[in-house]
Amino acid sequence: MALSDVTTERLQLSRWDVALHTPALTRLNACPVAVRYLNDGVPYTAPESAAQSRRFAAHWEQHGFGLWAVRVRATGEVIGFTGLSHPLWFPRVAHEVEVGWRLHPSAWGNGYATEAGRAAVAAARTSLGLSRLIAVIDPENVASIAVAKRLGFGRESVGAHPQRPGTIELYALHLAATP
Ligand SMILES: CC(C)(COP(=O)(O)OP(=O)(O)OC[C@H]1O[C@@H](n2cnc3c(N)ncnc32)[C@H](O)[C@@H]1OP(=O)(O)O)[C@@H](O)C(=O)NCCC(=O)NCCS
Repeated sequence: MALSDVTTERLQLSRWDVALHTPALTRLNACPVAVRYLNDGVPYTAPESAAQSRRFAAHWEQHGFGLWAVRVRATGEVIGFTGLSHPLWFPRVAHEVEVGWRLHPSAWGNGYATEAGRAAVAAARTSLGLSRLIAVIDPENVASIAVAKRLGFGRESVGAHPQRPGTIELYALHLAATP
């Protein structure tokens, strides 16, 4: 089954489109505070963000689901992404489906990540028929852990980060057990 676009109370969640969404991703990825727990804390260059944007679109092509661009309905602004994808950067769990979120700092503190994440969890259950979702999070990324916990995820394990020194935490949500 495939994932559709979704409208929530305040957000429009749309299939990733390179032409439409690369500029917002480039602005987001250029913010040091937004990448503090990603890419060794180094902001992405514009070509790196463009390549990442193409990978987001390719994931949709290949799997029928992926990361949504998140647009604030009231302003029309694209503030980042949320959605479902295979964490290909983490081979041990790459067969699983991860819910992810990354928003521009100017949009933090509004509950947008939780609102979009809740839609992703619902779609994982109803549209994709998944029984389990994961979230892979840096142990110091308190804001991301808080989103995962608000959505009902529990910490399942801690292990070595696949690409750098330090650890990474695996959160999981068993969808069959949630209403
Ligand atoms: C992870 C990330 C998306 C979390 O953003 P966030 O704004 O803290 O999370 P939410 O959108 O769910 O907002 C929750 C906050 O909004 C507040 N809020 C305000 N209005 C709200 C409303 N109407 N509804 C719900 N919450 C609201 C909540 O009280 C909460 O504030 P608090 O953090 O002071 O408790 C953000 O920090 C981010 O993009 N980080 C960089 C990328 C990243 O690290 N991604 C995760 C990789 S694993």
